[in-house]
Amino acid sequence: MDTRISTPAAGRPPAAPAVPLYPLSLRVNGQEHQLHVEAWVSLLDLLRDRLALTGTKKGCDQGQCGACTVLVDGKRVNSCLTLALMQEGRSITTVEGLADGNALHPLQQAFVRHDAFQCGYCTPGQLCSGVGLMNEGQAQDRAQVRELMSGNVCRCGAYPQIVAAMAEVMQLPDETNDHHRDDGAGARVGTVPA
Ligand code: FES
Ligand code: FES
Repeated sequence: MDTRISTPAAGRPPAAPAVPLYPLSLRVNGQEHQLHVEAWVSLLDLLRDRLALTGTKKGCDQGQCGACTVLVDGKRVNSCLTLALMQEGRSITTVEGLADGNALHPLQQAFVRHDAFQCGYCTPGQLCSGVGLMNEGQAQDRAQVRELMSGNVCRCGAYPQIVAAMAEVMQLPDETNDHHRDDGAGARVGTVPA
C-alpha cells in the first residue's frame, strides 16, 4: 500500500480549505465599491475593517446600544445586526458621509452648538439615528424624539443636549407645549433624563 496518499504533505498538516468569498456591490458615502466578502461579515465590520470607515462605532455588537447606527437607503440600521451581503446594491451613509463637503450636516452643527456629547463614542450613531428619525418624519415633539431615539444609548448622559439639538433642527415646540408630557410618555422614557 502506498502510504504517500495518506500523508500528502510529507508530514505537514493539510492546507485549510479555501474560505468562499461572495461578490458585493454597494455605495458607501457616494462611492461605489466592488468587494468580495465572507458570508459572516457584518456591515459594521465591513465598514470599519475593510473600508477603514472607523467613525461608525462598535459598542455591544449585539443590537443593544445603537453606537453602530448607519443609514441604509436613508433608513437607520444597526450595522452590527446586518450582514454585509444583505446590502447588495444599497446606498450606505455613515457619519463620515453626513457632511456636504466642508459643511457639517445641520444636525452635526446643532450637536456642536448644544454640546451634545462628552466622550463622543455614541455620537456617530446618535447623528445617523437622528438623521434617520428626521427622514421618517414621525417625531412631532421632544417626548417622541426621546422615545424614538431610545435605541441609542449615551453612557455620558448627554441626552438633554442631544434632544435639544434635535429639537432645534426639527423646529419642535417648546417642552411646555409638549402634549405627550401628560399622557405617560414622559414616564415611559424616564431612563432618558429630560
Ligand atoms: Fe450595534 Fe451596539 S454595536 S447596537
Ligand atoms: Fe459619551 Fe455618549 S457622549 S457615550
